[in-house]
Amino acid sequence: MNHAWHLLAAAVMMAFTGCATVQHPVRTAPADHGEKLVIAHRGASGYLPEHTLEGYAMAHAQGAHYVEPDVVMTADGVLIALHDLTLEATTNVQEIFPNRIRHDGSWYAADFTFLELQMLSVHERTRDSRQVYPGRFPADTALFRIPSLEQIIQLIQGLNTSTGRNVGIYPEIKSSRWHRDQGLFIEEALLDLLNAYGYEGPKANIFIQSFEPESLLYLRNTLGADMPLVQLISARQSHLTTAAALDKIATYADGIGPSKALIEDVRGSPVRNLFLVTEAHARGLVVHPYTFRADQLPRHTGSLEEELERFLYVYGVDGVFVDFPDAAVRVINETVGE
Ligand code: G3P
Ligand code: CA
Repeated sequence: MNHAWHLLAAAVMMAFTGCATVQHPVRTAPADHGEKLVIAHRGASGYLPEHTLEGYAMAHAQGAHYVEPDVVMTADGVLIALHDLTLEATTNVQEIFPNRIRHDGSWYAADFTFLELQMLSVHERTRDSRQVYPGRFPADTALFRIPSLEQIIQLIQGLNTSTGRNVGIYPEIKSSRWHRDQGLFIEEALLDLLNAYGYEGPKANIFIQSFEPESLLYLRNTLGADMPLVQLISARQSHLTTAAALDKIATYADGIGPSKALIEDVRGSPVRNLFLVTEAHARGLVVHPYTFRADQLPRHTGSLEEELERFLYVYGVDGVFVDFPDAAVRVINETVGE
C-alpha cells in the first residue's frame, strides 16, 4: 500500500465520517437488539466497492447499526473480507498473478498470503468484464485494497470512539466445510480474533452468521461461543423454514437471516409468507432478511424505501441487510418520528 493511497483513503474516510453530522444515527451505545437494525451489506456497497475500508466507513457515517463482512481465510491464516472464495470478480488478480490460477480457471484467496493479496486492487463486482450493477462506483479505478477482518474491527471501533456511536459487526463465515478441506480452520480463528477485540457474551455488539448449520453448532457447542448467532437461510434451503427446523435453530442460534424471497415472492404480485416471521418470533429468533438494493427492486415496488417499509413494518422483520444503508436509516427515522 503506497503513501498516495494512504492519503487518499484517509481523505475519503474523513469526508464520509464528516457526513455523520448530517445523518441521524438511530441509536447510541449500548446496543439494543429490540430495535429495527440496519445492516450495511458488504459495507455501503451501493456506493463504494464491496468489502473495502472506505465502504465500511461510509456505512458507519450513514448511520448503519452493523457492518457486514463476508469472511474467508488466506493461506497464512488471516481472515479477510471477501464474498467469494475466488478473487477474479472483484480484483485484478488475473493481471498481477497470471500463473496462480487453479485448474478450474479461478484464483482462490486461500492460495495467497495476506501480503500477496495487498498487491491487488479491489474494484466494483464484474461479470464477463461488465459491472454487475452498472450505476455504481466505476470499476476502472485502482483505489481500494482487500481488508483483513482485524482492520475492519479497528476501523469500526475507532469510528465508534470518535463519533460516540456503537456500531457492531456482523461477520459471515463463508464455506466453513471448504476451508476445513483446505486445512484452514475459520471458526477458531474468528473466535480468537473477536475475543481479542472484546466481542464476548450474549450482549456483545455482534452477530455471527452462516448458511451452514454445522458451522454455527460447532461455534456454539464445541467452541463455546456465547455471542449472538444467526442462521442464514437461502431460497434453496426452504427445508430450514419448517416448524421443526425452526425449533432446532432456536437451540443454537439467536436469529435467522432468510432470503427475502422466503418472505415475499419477488416475481410479481406479493405473496406474503408471514409464517416464517411469526414462527421465528414465537421461538425468540430475530429475523434479518437479505438483500435490499435500490438497483434490484422487485417488479411491484416503486422504490427501495417502499420495499424496506413493507418488510420492516408490515411483515415485521427486525432488521435488513441493505446495500444502501442511508435509505434504511431514513425509513426507520421517519417511522419513529411519526
Ligand atoms: O449474509 C446475508 C447475505 O449477505 C447472504 O448473502 O451471498 O450476499 O453473502 P451473500
Ligand atoms: Ca453475507
